[in-house]
Amino acid sequence: MSKSLQAIRGMNDILPEQTPAWRYLERTFADLLDGYGYSEIRLPILEFTELFARGIGEGTDVVDKEMYTFLDRNEESLTLRPEGTAGTVRAVLEHGMTGGGQVQKLWYAGPMFRYEKPQKGRYRQFHQIGVEVFNLAGPDIDAELIVLTWRLWKKLGLADSVTLQLNSLGSSEARATYRDALVAFLKERYDQLDEDSQRRLTTNPLRILDSKNETTQALLVGAPTLHDYLDEESRVHFEGLKARLDAAGIAYEINPKLVRGLDYYSRTVFEWVTTKLGSQGTVCAGGRYDGLVTQFGGKPTPGVGFAMGVERLVLLLETLGLVPAELARPADLYVCAFGEPAELAALTLAERLRDALPGVRLLVNAGAGSFKSQFKKADKSGAQFALIMGDDELAARVVGFKPLRGEGEQQNIAWDALPEHLAACLKQA
Ligand code: HAM
Repeated sequence: MSKSLQAIRGMNDILPEQTPAWRYLERTFADLLDGYGYSEIRLPILEFTELFARGIGEGTDVVDKEMYTFLDRNEESLTLRPEGTAGTVRAVLEHGMTGGGQVQKLWYAGPMFRYEKPQKGRYRQFHQIGVEVFNLAGPDIDAELIVLTWRLWKKLGLADSVTLQLNSLGSSEARATYRDALVAFLKERYDQLDEDSQRRLTTNPLRILDSKNETTQALLVGAPTLHDYLDEESRVHFEGLKARLDAAGIAYEINPKLVRGLDYYSRTVFEWVTTKLGSQGTVCAGGRYDGLVTQFGGKPTPGVGFAMGVERLVLLLETLGLVPAELARPADLYVCAFGEPAELAALTLAERLRDALPGVRLLVNAGAGSFKSQFKKADKSGAQFALIMGDDELAARVVGFKPLRGEGEQQNIAWDALPEHLAACLKQA
C-alpha cells in the first residue's frame, strides 16, 4: 500500500481485539467517577491556537515543538488539542460554570494530539481520561483525586504496579525566586550542561531538573532545591496533602525534581509511574493550577486535575494479563438459515429472541453460503449454540438447536418454546 494510504505515523487504529480492554477501562473509570459525584464534559478537539499557547505556555515542549497547528479556510490559526485542561478552563469560563465560587467536578475522555517521536507508549494521537475540579482550594481535594486514582488501580489490579511521585511547586512568586536561584547556579556551570539544558536555561529552566542527561543530573546534586524556596502557605498545603495520604494509607515518594512539562501548575504536582512499560512509564499525571483561570481573564478560581494515558494503561493491563477474559466473550448463538423463506423467518425469530432475552449475543449469518460453510462459520465464531432454519423447520414452526461445544445432540425446538429453552441452556453453559 502506498504510504499516503496508510495511517499517519504515531496515529493508531484500535482494532476489534483491543477495543474490549478500552471499553473496560473507560467504563470502570466512568462508574468510579459517578461514585464520587463527578460529571462528564465533552469538548471540541480543535481550539484556537492561542488557547494552548497561553494556557500551556510558550517555552514548553508541547507548545514550541509538538502542536498540530494549521490555518483554516478563514485564515484562523487552529490547533488539535494536545491536552484537555486548557479546553476545560475555556469551557467553564465561557458557560459561567465557576461564577460565584461554584464548585465543578468534571471529567472527560478522548483523543489528544502531540507531534512527538513515536515509540512504545508514546503516540501522536493518544487518548486521555482526565478530571478537572474548580473552586476547591484545600489539600483535601488534591487528596481526593489521588485517592480516587488509587481506587481505580485497585479495581484494575494495578495497585502493586504503580507508585506515586509527589511534589509541591509552591506559589508562582516562590517559583520565580527559585528559578532565579537555579539559573544563577547553572550559569556558573553552563559549559558542563548538555545542549538541551543550555537552551532550556533561557526558555524553561525548571525543566532542566527533569533532564535525562547524566552529567547534568550530577551537576544538579549541589543545586538549590525547590523546597528551600517554598512559601509558607504552600508548605502548609503540602503538609495537609501528605497527612491525608498518610491517613488513607497511600504510599508516596517526594520527588523534588518533579516539575511537569506544562507551565500552568502551582503547588501540588503528582505522577503515577510504572516500571513495567520501559521509558514511557507515567500512566497518570496532574496537579494544581490555581492561576490558570485568571490567566484566561476569569476571576481567581482554584483548579486541580489530572489525566491518564489510556494507551499506556491498556498496555499495562495487557502486559500483566489483567484484561478480564470474559470481555472478549464470543456470541452465544449463531443463526444459520437456508433458502429465502427460512432466512426471512430466521431474521424475525432472531429479533424476537433479542426482545425476550436482553443481553443475549446473537450472530445472524442467514443465507451466507452452503450448509457446510455456514456450519464451519458457526463453529469458528466460538458461539455456544447454533440455530438452524431450513424449509422443513419453517413448515413445522421449529428450529434445529445444536450445541457447538461439548456434548449434546441437535434437537428441534418449537419457536414459542425457544426463548425459555435458550435461557436455560445459556445458564447451564
Ligand atoms: P501530561 O503529563 O502531559 O498532562 O499527560 C498526562 C498523561 O497522558 C501522561 O502521563 C501519559 O500517560 C499520557 N500521555 C501524554 N503524552 C502522551 C503521548 N504522546 N502518548 C501516549 N500517552 C501520552 C496533561 O496532559 C495535563 N493536562 C494533565 C492535567 C489535568 N493536569 C491537571 N489537569
